[in-house]
Amino acid sequence: MDTSQPGNRDKGTGYGRGPQSHDALITEVGPGTPCGEFMRRYWQPVAVAEKVAELPLAVRFLGEDLVLFRDKTGRPGLVHARCCHRGTTLYYGRTEEQGIRCCYHGWLFDVEGNCLDMPCEKDYGAGIRENVRQPWYPVIEEYGLIWAYFGPPEKKPAFIRYSSLENLGAGEKLYAFQGTFGGGGDASVDIMPCNWLQDWENVMDPFHLPILHTNFSGVQFMPEFGIMPEVEWALDDLGMKYTAYRELDDGREVDRVTYILFPHVRIVPSVELAPGPGTSIGFCMPVDDANFTIFHIMKVAEDFDFGARRRERLPGKIWSEMSEEEHQRFPGDWEAQVGQGPISLHSEEHLAPSDKGIRMARRLLKQQIELVQAGGDPQGVVFDDAEAIIDVKAGNFFRD
Ligand code: FES
Ligand SMILES: [Fe+2]
Repeated sequence: MDTSQPGNRDKGTGYGRGPQSHDALITEVGPGTPCGEFMRRYWQPVAVAEKVAELPLAVRFLGEDLVLFRDKTGRPGLVHARCCHRGTTLYYGRTEEQGIRCCYHGWLFDVEGNCLDMPCEKDYGAGIRENVRQPWYPVIEEYGLIWAYFGPPEKKPAFIRYSSLENLGAGEKLYAFQGTFGGGGDASVDIMPCNWLQDWENVMDPFHLPILHTNFSGVQFMPEFGIMPEVEWALDDLGMKYTAYRELDDGREVDRVTYILFPHVRIVPSVELAPGPGTSIGFCMPVDDANFTIFHIMKVAEDFDFGARRRERLPGKIWSEMSEEEHQRFPGDWEAQVGQGPISLHSEEHLAPSDKGIRMARRLLKQQIELVQAGGDPQGVVFDDAEAIIDVKAGNFFRD
């Protein structure tokens, strides 16, 4: 606003603004919501496999409270937390050979929710057990994670594999973990208290690298990211990507290619600018509308130790050890994204040309949600195992 114009100087105060809102179509993920239905068409990560042991875990995803367990034969199971008898949580249940037994009246459910025992009933519930089923979801164990399918049974897709996680070489292993990078991998910030889209669309925002991660808070990754990139965004058959070109001070030229895929996959190349394809795949998994977590799978060297790599945000300090003042003086992704609020208020934004990737990502997402609403199958969903492999093309590519 040109404040030299008569009458403009006193405008623009905070007084009298209209209602503020978020775009529910692309953010809300609960059962029955358009975006929730879209997401429920994919296999989605729900736990690091080795964390699912004898004690049941209480987990919450897509706005649903669930219990994840492993029966004594090793089969993982994911069921609604609320027991279908009289509603106590199966979190206090006990895992047995054949399933999980509710603590209250002892109903026993297998990993597919079938009731196998009602110890308070005549003949252990024979004749009535068949009439109840604990709500359950199919799960599989792949790449070191447990994955669940929350959608309509007749639409269950093939499990997608990623080329960069296949064909482990000698001395390589896969490393799967849960944790946001917003806190530098700090284990105490597994769940970020904001909407999943704030992270997923952020992956298509290469311009916050020179500002937030390099100039504002000091060098959080590499000094090279301080160079303003030349950026192109593009759609391809996988999803969406950007290519950020930089000429480095030593004369080398690098194209950094980053992807987002559906429903919430992020493929970010090495932030150390290691040359070559990205070997880390992340999933911005919604807990509910105002919380998300990230599951990562990385191809790493056999002796890789994430504990040793946990990024210090300040010398000698990881994220959770920083004071409030230090969070203010040295913000990172956690502060910027959570700072947008539980669900960012899209009605209050002013998108600029450098936000082109944000616009495109939201538009693409809307298209996919509307496709599902119209009865179609969204991008990236395939039903044939032979087609269920994604050729990962993200990476830091140095020009010759
Ligand atoms: S509430 Fe679970 S068996 Fe009664
Ligand atoms: Fe970032």
